Amino acid sequence: MIAVPSSVRARRDQAENELWEAGRRQSETLQRHGDQPPSPLTRNEIRPISDREFALFQGLIHRLAGIHLVPAKKALLVRRLTRRLRELSLTSFTAYYRLAKQPGHEEQIEMLDRICTNETQFFRESKQFDLLAEEIIPQWNASAAAGNRPRRLRAWSVACSSGEEPFSLAMTLLHHLTPEAAWQVEVQATDLSTRVLATARKAIWPIERAKRIPEVLRRRFMLKGVRSQFGKVKATRKIRSVVHFDRLNLNAENYTVRGPFDLIFCRNVLIYFDPQTRRRVIGQLLKRLAPNGFLFMGHAENLNGLTEQMRSVIPCVYTRTNP
Ligand SMILES: C[S@@+](CC[C@H](N)C(=O)[O-])C[C@H]1O[C@@H](n2cnc3c(N)ncnc32)[C@H](O)[C@@H]1O
Repeated sequence: MIAVPSSVRARRDQAENELWEAGRRQSETLQRHGDQPPSPLTRNEIRPISDREFALFQGLIHRLAGIHLVPAKKALLVRRLTRRLRELSLTSFTAYYRLAKQPGHEEQIEMLDRICTNETQFFRESKQFDLLAEEIIPQWNASAAAGNRPRRLRAWSVACSSGEEPFSLAMTLLHHLTPEAAWQVEVQATDLSTRVLATARKAIWPIERAKRIPEVLRRRFMLKGVRSQFGKVKATRKIRSVVHFDRLNLNAENYTVRGPFDLIFCRNVLIYFDPQTRRRVIGQLLKRLAPNGFLFMGHAENLNGLTEQMRSVIPCVYTRTNP
């Protein structure tokens, strides 16, 4: 790695400090801001989608991303792709399909960006973060103190959306496993959607979203925007430095992500896949889970019928049956 001279670092930090301030005054601004509503779509001029056209998109999206669009999702598909058809001045879904089906065409990335549901929150399913902070991390600390494990911790947020999940993880880990106590923490974050990854990399969110971050962590790891950044929060450089983002399609045959990970968060993404894809994805994840690692899933997900290798610790959190 190339060392950044301290004068350059100081200028960079000063520029950041002019637009972002730490802790104290965040809570009053938190009261006043929310997400902007999406602008409405106009659907004139585009021919209504036929059942055949919907079936073509179902097949294509399933082949590319493993996402299984049930017939009830037809309206959702239309809502999400109509704007794109208009941008491209296309008047039928068939015309768009012809473009998007071309192998390796960049429109595939664009289409998947539009199709994916990216809903997320900081500290979503907060009981899981409580388990991490109150039980799992103390075990690691005790084990490291006894010399039974290195002070190195790797976590993976496999469908990280706009970054709230990996940053919640990073804040929790860094708060308890500090560099001062010689811990090295690394959070790998991946997603299929380039659009959400771009947001996640910026690590800037509407201030309303930060309400869900426990205050002690918000003060420690989030900066509040002023002037042109008013109404936003940004993760501090310290926390940004431990989170690394890459695009990854969980439906791919091979992953470039290298394990082992002590923690894998695979939450609220398997619900979009059919059972066969789920089984394959879980198989790939387990190859990268450390022997004593933990797999966290979403509240509507479980490993029933997908693997015999894991047992649940609390609902939706698993560890190996035979480490
Ligand atoms: C509902 S969000 C869940 C975000 C976060 N894990 C959480 O629980 O808050 C689902 C995410 O899965 C991603 N996704 C969908 N299909 C995927 C695939 N085949 N590979 C990787 N990510 C995918 C979407 O882009 C989206 O960001």
